[in-house]
Amino acid sequence: MAQGGLSKATESRSNAKFSTDNRKVDAFARKQKIAQHRRSLPIASVEKRLVDEVRKNGILIIVGETGSGKTTQLPQFLFNAGFCRDGKLIGVTQPRRVAAVTVAKRVAEECGVELGQRVGYSIRFDDMTTGSTRIKYMTDGLLLREALLDPYLSRYSVIIVDEAHERTVHTDVLLGLLKNVQIARSKSVNDHLNNENKKTKNDMGLEKENGTQYLSFLKQDQGRKFPPLKLIIMSASLDARVFSDYFGGARAVHVQGRQFPVDILYTHHPEPDYVDASLITIFQIHLGEGPGDVLVFLTGQEEIESVERLIKERIQQLPEDNRKLMTVPIFSSLPSEQQMRVFVPTPAGFRKVILATNIAETSVTIPGIKYVIDPGFVKARSYDPKKGLESLSIVPISKAQALQRSGRAGRQGPGKCFRLYPESEFEKLEDSTKPEIQRCNLSNVILQLKALGVEDIIGFDFIEKPSRSAIIKSLEQLFLLGAMTDECKLSDPVGHQMARLPLDPIYSKALILASEFKCLEEMLITVAMLSVESIFYAPRENLDEARTAMNSFSSPEGDHLSLINVFRAASELLEKRNLSLGKEKADKVLRKWCKENFINSRSLRHARDIHSQIQGHVEQMGLHVSSCGDDMLQFRRCLAASFFLNAALKQPEGTYRALASGQVVQIHPSSMLFRAKPDCVIYNELIETTHKYIRNVTRIDYLWLSELAPQFYTLQS
Ligand code: CDP
Ligand code: MG
Repeated sequence: MAQGGLSKATESRSNAKFSTDNRKVDAFARKQKIAQHRRSLPIASVEKRLVDEVRKNGILIIVGETGSGKTTQLPQFLFNAGFCRDGKLIGVTQPRRVAAVTVAKRVAEECGVELGQRVGYSIRFDDMTTGSTRIKYMTDGLLLREALLDPYLSRYSVIIVDEAHERTVHTDVLLGLLKNVQIARSKSVNDHLNNENKKTKNDMGLEKENGTQYLSFLKQDQGRKFPPLKLIIMSASLDARVFSDYFGGARAVHVQGRQFPVDILYTHHPEPDYVDASLITIFQIHLGEGPGDVLVFLTGQEEIESVERLIKERIQQLPEDNRKLMTVPIFSSLPSEQQMRVFVPTPAGFRKVILATNIAETSVTIPGIKYVIDPGFVKARSYDPKKGLESLSIVPISKAQALQRSGRAGRQGPGKCFRLYPESEFEKLEDSTKPEIQRCNLSNVILQLKALGVEDIIGFDFIEKPSRSAIIKSLEQLFLLGAMTDECKLSDPVGHQMARLPLDPIYSKALILASEFKCLEEMLITVAMLSVESIFYAPRENLDEARTAMNSFSSPEGDHLSLINVFRAASELLEKRNLSLGKEKADKVLRKWCKENFINSRSLRHARDIHSQIQGHVEQMGLHVSSCGDDMLQFRRCLAASFFLNAALKQPEGTYRALASGQVVQIHPSSMLFRAKPDCVIYNELIETTHKYIRNVTRIDYLWLSELAPQFYTLQS
């Protein structure tokens, strides 16, 4: 590898006696490789130009193809150019946890620093930053929460909103907030500089007087002085207009990518089962195509894990020579140490199959991909404001997504993309995905905006306004949960407490109520377990065994209690073995136990982490964590009081009617109550596949509803 191109830092370190120490040689070689990789990225050649653009413009929009180096390189360019002087931070927001974590790790390595030092990340329930952190990757939701404590985001000199094209609800709200913060911060400097009322232009070219629409919380703080905030919006979508227009005609620059041709192959007919079709295609590629890794887009953890198992099974049926196929999953809730596995180079002679959710579309760029399998689906939220009904369903992707997916095959050389649908279906896809803010329940957003002091939600300057009916329905829901007063203000203390918890409002309310019902211990476990995808798994080949295992935890009252039983059994196991100190050993014991009991150990570990984090939050809030012991009636009453908006009543023909929406639903076959079919239940999830299914279901007494939620149910009866 070329010695001449080494950076100074690397050269000075290379003085060490590396020839006598293999580890040092390895580390040295890796450093060289990384330095060379960085230099080869398309963005490297425009470093100076980009830094100049950031210096000149208060707001800059950077559009660049995925993989050009935006996320990993730009923050380093700005750090080196002195944007972190005076201890200020460069914040980079990502819509996805996985991206924040993997990119931070990569950039820390590129900088040759330990994670958490100069480079760190912070996501909900996991903070890897210290006082020395200067480049901070985080989720967009997390920065929104920070704004609650530090409304001017005064620690940051630069904020980069990355993956803005994804248009998650948090990104959209963040853009609105940052727009205000930026005007307010540039105004605070301008005021300082021009005490007389001289007309100045702020960074956006807007006249200062226009800034009078600041959020009210920013107005209150006008006496303080802050240095201006640089705002950078990065997007992989080629159309920057929507962002530029929103920021008053802000400057947009384009970073050239590098893309090799990708052959697109379609099926002749629609595939009835895309999971099965994916599996067949994986093996066709493995046995029939040249070397190169495969990236498969699936819709969620459950699907990924089942495909992973099926691949492993089928490999065993192949001749010995053909078994060199390894699978690597990647999805949001994967423990962070496992997420990095996708970046480990494939061993010689092997083929890697990466099973990913749509995070691999643009957020996470994985090297080595030559083949992409695109079944054409994604799991997405949808919201019906008339019914107040939010559901998760598997829906066709947009054309823009299909193009991003196929593009992944052409990063390092020509590739192939297998679309598991006919070309005629591609033509029918929507051009682009609707922003999430227009298809989700807004109660969370509203709660946060209210907590930030935004009085007029309908008048808030959203990049694209959600529908009025969705805003009103969500306000109504917050009112029913007791978060809002008649005057549409946050209630004291409940509304403020709810806004402080990093959870869906309905879960925050459940925790607050549980402390009154003296079953907060049980509710903490419930909320943690409901925050992860699936705790149980039932592989087709061991269905009976899995059911028996599941039954050993099951409660006749329903799934919530069963989840508590699993959580407690795991905790008891660890306590009994007294392994609380040795993390590695404890993990091993837990994994083995999970395997024997058909429990998803990744999900359980994640739930245990979430549990300890929320426990910290509620204790800080002064809520009393106590258990209702054996009095499960008390706990079920608390479930009814908390989730009354998700109550359903059995119909004569055995289906259920959701009381708030009137929707006909069925209990999901994975529920403990699938056969028992009690008269009245509450549930926590509505999913739409062939039917509308409710999941995580518990039996309640119908009469409790009017007793415990009279604000809703007396009106109905
Ligand atoms: O943000 P953008 O899509 O423009 O690119 P990036 O995420 O900065 O990635 C630039 C390069 O770094 C790609 O070639 C990635 O494969 C590589 N990368 C990596 O090897 N490991 C990571 N954890 C992240 C990025
Ligand atoms: Mg990126």
